[in-house]
Amino acid sequence: MSLREILRWPDPRLAETCAPVGEITPEIKTLARDMLETMYDAPGRGLAAPQVGAMVRMFVMDTGWKEGKPDPLVCINPMLQEISEERVEAEEGCLSIPGVLAKVSRPAQVQMVWTGLKGGRIVQSFIGFAAACAQHELDHLDGVVTFDHLDAETRARKIAEFEAI
Ligand code: NI
Repeated sequence: MSLREILRWPDPRLAETCAPVGEITPEIKTLARDMLETMYDAPGRGLAAPQVGAMVRMFVMDTGWKEGKPDPLVCINPMLQEISEERVEAEEGCLSIPGVLAKVSRPAQVQMVWTGLKGGRIVQSFIGFAAACAQHELDHLDGVVTFDHLDAETRARKIAEFEAI
């Protein structure tokens, strides 16, 4: 396993749409393990493949490890199946935009389906922080970052804040 470099916004790769993962090759397995290691090292609770320059539809997340309840997920070709009508707004950080939080509004609850590292289909519902985290990581696979959810004025202010760091 090895740590991978995390790309920082506005690296153009963070604005690209990623390609589906085909076969789960040894390279994909290595990428997944490296991404988990890189996420824990950062330290963060989610990391998407394009953030380490791998332009494939895969992310890792573990929303419990910082509270001593590790639950590592490797989500390959994830898709939302159901989204709640209720929305919530929360401050989100991003390992590619270190030091800046942005308030993003999202569905409060989602059901996501993905392929696991062993090839099986996994369906899971997420609520609260985990719901926001899963949607945030899924966004990365479509070239979307937190800034892209903001109105023009807030976006300009947040970008200025990031550039001043
Ligand atoms: Ni992010």
